[in-house]
Amino acid sequence: MNNRIAKRMDSISPSQTLAISAKAKAMKREGLNVISFSVGEPDFNTPEHIIQAAKEALDAGNTKYTPSSGLLPLRKAICEKFAKDNGISYEPSQIIVSNGAKHSIFNACYALLDEGDEVIIPTPYWLTYPEVVKVCGGVPTYLVCPKENKYKFTAEELKAAITPKTKMLIFNSPSNPTGAVYTEEEVRAIAKVCEEAEIFVLADEIYEKLCYNGVKPFSIAKCSEKMKDLTITVNGVSKTYAMTGWRIGYLAAPHDVAKAIDSFQSHATSNASSISQYATMEALSASEEEVQKMVQIFDKRRAKLLDLIAQIDGVKAVEPDGAFYVMLVVDGLYGKCYQGKALTNSIDFANALLEGEKVATVPGISFGADDCVRLSYSLSEEDMEEGLRRIAKFVSELK
Ligand SMILES: Cc1ncc(COP(=O)(O)O)c(C=O)c1O
Repeated sequence: MNNRIAKRMDSISPSQTLAISAKAKAMKREGLNVISFSVGEPDFNTPEHIIQAAKEALDAGNTKYTPSSGLLPLRKAICEKFAKDNGISYEPSQIIVSNGAKHSIFNACYALLDEGDEVIIPTPYWLTYPEVVKVCGGVPTYLVCPKENKYKFTAEELKAAITPKTKMLIFNSPSNPTGAVYTEEEVRAIAKVCEEAEIFVLADEIYEKLCYNGVKPFSIAKCSEKMKDLTITVNGVSKTYAMTGWRIGYLAAPHDVAKAIDSFQSHATSNASSISQYATMEALSASEEEVQKMVQIFDKRRAKLLDLIAQIDGVKAVEPDGAFYVMLVVDGLYGKCYQGKALTNSIDFANALLEGEKVATVPGISFGADDCVRLSYSLSEEDMEEGLRRIAKFVSELK
């Protein structure tokens, strides 16, 4: 047998970040005091009332298959969420609940992309997007979002990037990794271009509630009926309710798209965990007090982190308005040496920082931005201060 592994797997790149995070974990296991800025999930527990709802679901025997697209009351609650938070009206048949937002994104790409269809991915991007697009037969094309424009692309830049083969734009606001949040005006201009070109938009709104500075995200599906018919909005509970392990994400789509995704999911995975679905119903219907508390803590850390970064010569950051990440721009230090080893890219930088100062970051190359490393501020203020002290020391020792 020449081809044990299917050709389609050739297109997937192994995660360049895995090696560094594996090294950070191994160092922690050895008892070393590693400060990790590489975490992609809130460092809070799932709120107690949500855990309680899951326990009650178990006790009530809600442990069986559900409809593959999710429990009807949950899909109704999701419709209410879209109406209340985003001003968009959906029917439960347009909602598919899946095993995390990542699964929803995969489903949407699988349902919409034919071999060779181009997908515009604004860069820096969340590292899963290009891989999912490739697995589904699509071709990622990249639209650079300049830091001078707070890591946002403009409608004109999008227009110039569209080709006759473009089928979809992936639009992630607030963004992982940059924290960029597009204003209503910017979203409306982008929607106009998508409507004219008749391209789909996969709107990943997983960080929508984690916004600061009074900035409010705006859902592209709200722009017009035509735009709604071209948009698949993805969201979930992982980040907002600190529920990464529960694996619930969902999407809202036009009827034909939702129907296709439902049939695919019914054969691929069936329903997401019934217990997690009950917990999600509670998360979506209860007060947002816990979320607000989390946002305030993140906001305080964000301000502190930016302040500490500003005190280090040779690095800089663009102020993020959402999510819980900051891109630390470090390319001004490339060409310098750390303990005799030259730093030429973000992987060198992240490796040397981890080995020398025991600080874990994610190299920007993973997000298509080799001039940066990503810092997550999902860690305590004390650890953050210590981590930044170590980064400052590391930078001062470069020759
Ligand atoms: C931009 C973005 N979209 C989607 C996801 C996936 O979330 P989930 O845990 O719901 O699969 C993540 C997780 O890191 C993310 O950063």
